This record gives sequence, structure tokens and C-alpha cells, in this order.
Amino acid sequence: MTTSLPLAARADLLVGSVIDSSTSLLAQQSHDIVRFAMGSPAAEAIPWELLQEVGRSGLGSSSAFDYAATEGEPDLRAALLEMLEGTTDRTTDDRLTITSGGMQGLDLAAKLFIDPGDLVTVESPTYTNGSATALAYQAELAEIEVDAEGMSIDALRAAVDRAGRTPKLIYTVPTFQNPSGTSMSLARRTELLELARSWGSVVLDDDPYGMLRFAGADVPSLHELADGDPLVFSVRTFSKIIAPGLRLGWVDADPSLQTLLINAKQSMDTCANLPAQRLVAGFLQRGYLKDHLATQRTEYRRRKEAMQAALAEHFTGRATWTDPEGGFFLWVSFGDEVDTEELFARALAAGVAYIPGNAFSPGRRFPHDLRLCFASTPTDRIHEGVARLAGAIDQG
Ligand SMILES: Cc1ncc(COP(=O)(O)O)c(C=O)c1O
Repeated sequence: MTTSLPLAARADLLVGSVIDSSTSLLAQQSHDIVRFAMGSPAAEAIPWELLQEVGRSGLGSSSAFDYAATEGEPDLRAALLEMLEGTTDRTTDDRLTITSGGMQGLDLAAKLFIDPGDLVTVESPTYTNGSATALAYQAELAEIEVDAEGMSIDALRAAVDRAGRTPKLIYTVPTFQNPSGTSMSLARRTELLELARSWGSVVLDDDPYGMLRFAGADVPSLHELADGDPLVFSVRTFSKIIAPGLRLGWVDADPSLQTLLINAKQSMDTCANLPAQRLVAGFLQRGYLKDHLATQRTEYRRRKEAMQAALAEHFTGRATWTDPEGGFFLWVSFGDEVDTEELFARALAAGVAYIPGNAFSPGRRFPHDLRLCFASTPTDRIHEGVARLAGAIDQG
């Protein structure tokens, strides 16, 4: 429905998210569906009993339902600093702002750095909500190819040559990328930082899945490689490692941005949800995260392997797929004969949901690809879901 109200020009640029909309689309379905669409942790991976225990004993009094400090609850900030100690995201208090999920971190970055018409590079495919946020701030987007080693730095250079100007912001999901599942190699990370430095660009380092490695060797984060250089603005979230409904995350940015981040956040939501901050602080203080992550990594590895086995059974010779070493997603590429947007309705009717590839590209570059989330579905259902997908393709 269109409105006759006098909208701002930017309202036309609010493209929304096919991914987020799939939550309500799926909630309206009454038949059995294997859900490979949303990037949610497995229902059984949400540590709700532990969170309940913290809630019963750890929230304190009615003060837990007051406003919180905009930069975040001191207990949560302290517990987070301790949690990050010894990891590639090790940091200091003056760099942290607690946010309402990773999405708010992306919005804050866009709000601070993007003027209308600024060039922003995004990966191709990219996390839709990230590119949509940049668009909402009236950025001009350039899509940069991703291969098995992550964003192609040669393609980034070529895009900048074509544009005839350097990007204000380089948006990347460097580890177990959403949607492709691939990770940027160390060599490319280093090269990216060198280029960004020479261009004066900010690197928006969105890394929600880095703690969910289940294979391969660790790679240092862009945050660590930058070694305090202000050019890296890092966005992190508790959504994938604890629970998305908490809507909590953090930004790790140069201390010179702290006041601006607080000012910007105050005009969005004043502070992140205080009961949720107390829950997460208690969860971290009790040391629950370590075991929780270990269990999740093992289970997600099993699920990825189950999905790859099912794909091999049904699609060998008809499709290729990525081999992530962590995170939630893999990316399947079919030949020209499969249109994954057109297939979607048939697949949904057959009882399986995914996100079509075009949802991850402002220029709609992936009509024959799709994203599957292996993390949220038990292995027997993964086999069933991939079989249903094969059935839906064969009906076409
Ligand atoms: C790459 C990436 N960035 C940011 C987010 C958003 O995180 P949150 O749900 O904490 O807002 C997600 C969630 O899917 C994501 O995959």
C-alpha cells in the first residue's frame, strides 16, 4: 500500500530485508517446513535454562528495569572485556559501546561515516541488512566479488578505479561470511588494511561468527591486525553465540569516537535493554560461555557435514557449494536452469525454506544461487530438507 504522506526522500531507499521478512512469512505457514532460511542459532543451542538461572538470582531489584548508561551496564562491560581477553578481539574499555544487537552497530557506523552519495563497497554477495543500512544513509554501493579467500582485493582496486574515487567505507564480513560461509585469508586482510589506509577509508569489520570456528586454523581479526589504527570499526553481537532475542552486541572503535557513538545511540534508543544486559553479564560472570561455545562448535560441525553429505547425495554434478570452517551458512550455486527466486514458492510448498541468492546483492547478481543455514536444524531434518529441495527443483 502506498502512502500520500510527505515522506523524506530517504524513505524510498528503505529496501528492507528478505531475510528478516522470512521470519514472519514462515510464522504464517501451518505445514511442516525445514527452515534453512533464518540465521538463528539452533533452538536447542539457546542456553535458556542457564539464562533463567541467572534471571532468578542475578538481575538484582527493580533497578534492573530502569534506564541503563548509554555506553552499557558496567558489569556487562567488565565481563565482556574479560571474555575477550586472550581472543583475537581483545580490547580495552575505552573502545567499547554496548549496542542493541549487531544491526545497531552497523547503523551507528553508517550514521557516523556516510554522507549522501558517498561510495561504500560491499561484498558480493553481502549481508543484505548491512548493504540496506548503507543505502538508507544514501550511499552509492559498489559490489566486490567474493571467492574462496573472501573479498577479492584485486576486484576492490578495479572497482575503485572504475568509480574514479575511493570508498568512504569498506563493508566486510570477513569470517564465515554471511551468506557465503567463506573467510578472508590473512594475506587479504593485511592487503585490505594497507589499501584502506592509503585511501583514508574506514573498514567496517562485521564479524558475528568468528567465535564459532569448528575447523581450520584461527585467523587474526581485522581488529587485531589494525593494532589500534582508528580505521577499523568493529561490530560484534551476542546474537549468534548466546541468543538473538537478547538484541545485544557491541562496537569496538577508536576511543576518539566514543562521545559521538553515545550521542548517536541516544537519539536511537537511549540505551540497550537493561534486563538483557544483566542476564548476559551474569551468564559471562559465571563462566558459562566457554562450555556453551564448545558444545555449539561441535554440533555446528556435525550439521555442516550433514548438509554437505545431503547436498552431495542430491546435487553432485548439478550444483557446487562452499565449505565453511565455522559459522552458520553455506552457499549453493546451481546452473542457469535453476532460478532460485522462482523456486522459492515451490520449495516452501514442498516444506523447505532458504534465502534466494539475489537477496544478497543490491545488483541482483545471484539468480541461480541460494543460502542455506545449517546451524539451526538437527541432522536428520537437514537430510529431509535437502531432499525436499531436490524434489522441488525436479518438479520445475
Ligand atoms: C553479518 C551479520 N551482521 C550483523 C548481523 C545482525 O546481528 P544482530 O542480530 O545482533 O542485530 C547479522 C545477523 O544475522 C549478521 O549475519
